[in-house]
Amino acid sequence: MDIVRTVVELRSHVSAWRKDGLTISLVPTMGSLHAGHLSLMKVGKEKSDKVIASIFVNPLQFAPDEDFETYPREENCDILKLVEEGVDLLFAPNVNEMYRQNSKTTINVGGLTDCLCALSRPGFFDGVATVVTKLLLQALPDIAIFGEKDYQQLLVIKRFTTDLDIPVEIVGAPTIREKDGLALSSRNIYLDPKSRSIAPSMFSILSQHASNISNGSDIKKSLKLARQNMHDLGFDKIDYLDLRNSQTLETCSDLKRPSRLFAAAWLGSTRLIDNLTVT
Ligand code: PAF
Repeated sequence: MDIVRTVVELRSHVSAWRKDGLTISLVPTMGSLHAGHLSLMKVGKEKSDKVIASIFVNPLQFAPDEDFETYPREENCDILKLVEEGVDLLFAPNVNEMYRQNSKTTINVGGLTDCLCALSRPGFFDGVATVVTKLLLQALPDIAIFGEKDYQQLLVIKRFTTDLDIPVEIVGAPTIREKDGLALSSRNIYLDPKSRSIAPSMFSILSQHASNISNGSDIKKSLKLARQNMHDLGFDKIDYLDLRNSQTLETCSDLKRPSRLFAAAWLGSTRLIDNLTVT
């Protein structure tokens, strides 16, 4: 696997592949790779001739009180995992390379960013949309792959690539979970043993209430009960637990359109998110 740190080097690999008529997938990450990320690489391998992974801990998507400085960075381990997965190229720029012209442009996506994670993480989606736009324009892949665990992020990325006519297919890939149901996340390493034992109950509570709602339980009452269950099991603060339209993220009072249950909650200083489709 080649490793490049500059946009010029990235583009030279891409243009050589293009000359050979090869198709290209991009998997943007912030590193500290786990099986969830590696499943995205596998999707890339299935869908295209060449796979580029990027690793960049993007300062623009962290609020001043968030964990930018301490976010896990394990590049050597990540490289071994990417090599094992058969990834063709790693693009790992530093902050100066990514934002080298003291840039003043950010991408703001309307509609989808006035709810859920956007309320507790102001500026987060502008940061994600800006860096992903740059990565897509730098690499110009045919396909870019993102996990459904960050479902709102996936919708935001689909929205701006359509709105800005960026010629890429955005592919969502299923959430990968621990055996006990906890959705994989690089931040799970922050959980102390007690929090780690409570964390999987987010998934079990969502699953239980998704099934109750599918089977006709009253939506408002189910959501209230689900929140109560989370409090009772030890979650400290619940940012949201909502049933929303899978495309628009508007709140749902029935199941006439495809819907998902979304939750974000805190265990100590760690914020967990998850979502599940409700059939
Ligand atoms: O999901 C992530 O890891 C990040 O938000 C992303 C998409 C790589 C942008 O920095």
